[in-house]
Amino acid sequence: MCGIVGAVAERNITAILVEGLKRLEYRGYDSAGLAVFNNAGVLERRRRVGKVSELEQALAGEPLAGRLGIAHTRWATHGAPSERNAHPHFSGSDLAVVHNGIIENHEALRKQLQGLGYVFSSDTDTEVIVHLLDHKLKALGDLTVALKATVKDLHGAYGLAVISAKQPDRLLAARSGSPLVIGLGLGENFLASDQLALRQVTDRFMYLEEGDIAEIRRDSVQIWSVDGQPVVRESVQYHEGAEAADKGEYRHFMLKEIHEQPKVVQRTLEGRLGTDHVLVQAFGPQAAELFAKVQNVQIVACGTSFHAGMVARYWLEELAGIPSQVEVASEFRYRKVVVQPGTLFVSISQSGETADTLAALRNGKAKGPDNGGYLASLAICNVGISSLVRESDLTLLTQAGPEIGVASTKAFTTQLVALMLLTLSLGQVRGTLAKGVEAELVEELRRLPTRLGEALAMDGTVEKIAELFAEKHHALFLGRGAQYPVAMEGALKLKEISYIHAEAYPAGELKHGPLALVDADMPVVTVAPNNELLEKLKSNLQEVRARGGELIVFADGEANMSNGEGTHVVNMPHISDALAPILYTLPLQLLSYYVAVLRGTDVDQPRNLAKSVTVE
Ligand code: F6R
Repeated sequence: MCGIVGAVAERNITAILVEGLKRLEYRGYDSAGLAVFNNAGVLERRRRVGKVSELEQALAGEPLAGRLGIAHTRWATHGAPSERNAHPHFSGSDLAVVHNGIIENHEALRKQLQGLGYVFSSDTDTEVIVHLLDHKLKALGDLTVALKATVKDLHGAYGLAVISAKQPDRLLAARSGSPLVIGLGLGENFLASDQLALRQVTDRFMYLEEGDIAEIRRDSVQIWSVDGQPVVRESVQYHEGAEAADKGEYRHFMLKEIHEQPKVVQRTLEGRLGTDHVLVQAFGPQAAELFAKVQNVQIVACGTSFHAGMVARYWLEELAGIPSQVEVASEFRYRKVVVQPGTLFVSISQSGETADTLAALRNGKAKGPDNGGYLASLAICNVGISSLVRESDLTLLTQAGPEIGVASTKAFTTQLVALMLLTLSLGQVRGTLAKGVEAELVEELRRLPTRLGEALAMDGTVEKIAELFAEKHHALFLGRGAQYPVAMEGALKLKEISYIHAEAYPAGELKHGPLALVDADMPVVTVAPNNELLEKLKSNLQEVRARGGELIVFADGEANMSNGEGTHVVNMPHISDALAPILYTLPLQLLSYYVAVLRGTDVDQPRNLAKSVTVE
């Protein structure tokens, strides 16, 4: 995911742009650049491959000062990471653009523009935007009018920032599928893909909505909505601490991170969804070509990330029709694995530095695809600068933001979202997923952040239920189908932060042994969405009740389950079966959190555990 920063002010804005880029750096980048309308009236550009510090060094050697500018950190999708592909992109010497997202019709536009005499100097999809804008500007004369006309010809996702040396009184922005926020100052205004980038200059923000175009001047902001009508977007005061590395209003990082999930799931979807399909290029420039060859998927991960992989196996087989295996990295790395031809190696990791997962990737890459090895490697990861990302062929970054609590929460749900995007992309490219089904799931994904918010509103109910666990020493978690890994994740959360011994079982396995453990001292937690396995699950729960076990059931409102003696039912918002694992994870996270608080353990830094396991 790239980062955008822009500024129009009375003072020199170069340092503000660079600081903004640095604040976005943790998300992943391979190059950085900026364009500034300098004090001599010329649009000047600096670009460097690598970290923002490389760009900073270049600026130290060759300073650049001006009052209008745009800047960008790039995560390559079209064209290799190189200086010529780094943003900003220019048309002639007067017009500069930075872009987040993917332009799907860039090939057709490129041909059209070449026909008009434009010469391209990069391999990016972005460069078509700046030349198209130049072409329209020549015909229409006004930059804002030309931008409105340009975006009509773009298919795909974009967040754009534009400046021109000919009209240096304004910074323009356009949003469709990639977030943009305007930072409001006194006699100066700013733009960024994330408010985090602007926290050093302002605490007042105005969020652009889908289809918005904004003309940002030093002392005014004008916005037009998708239908071309002028609109006023509300400006909001940002409260210190809500996003920075402090707990804000929350008692623990874990609780804060649990409540961030609607927002970070939304971020993980931004720029990756077309109207009715997933934008496959989000996985990298060669993704579509590689995905077409995939016949099998091998997933490798540890801990919570492994549970995300287990859910994905259900999705990949059921929705995309692809045989899939999943294994914990510490086992996988030492196995003499027989690789099926056409296997995509998928690693999942929050940190991207987990030693076992990295070793598994390195072993997997040792043999090439023509030598009995994997077709390609894909990393689903939360840290763009991590080893796992650098060493994988393809990447999809989760956008969970820094996760401080040792127990993984928002990293898990964003991994699930990324894995659903992978499932839909593979199904789309291989033609194994009906278009209608993809469109429906894309719609469901768009609604997901709202559903997650509804589930989190049950916080108080779950807190009460936690009291049932305070004095217990053991707990069982049950689930069926794709909810079985959710039960495993629930059990892991409970044991790691409350130190209660917890086990997860597929509900149908209960009578093959663990039922012997069930008595009044063994609470049994179950997740029960309304699906084809519900009736079977209900019979399994009867088996528990008959042995005096206390049941805690998180159930779909339509599942017809009610409270009774020894049975506590919490009704969940309704959600499609496919996305249920994401939603049903939330009450289990809350449950373990509140149990740990009641038991007085160190929630954010549980004993014996570290956030990033970089040793074997
Ligand atoms: C559990 C937890 C761990 C990690 C595991 C893998 O809450 O955080 O189980 O999931 O150590 O870490 P990553 O995802 O960084 O590879």
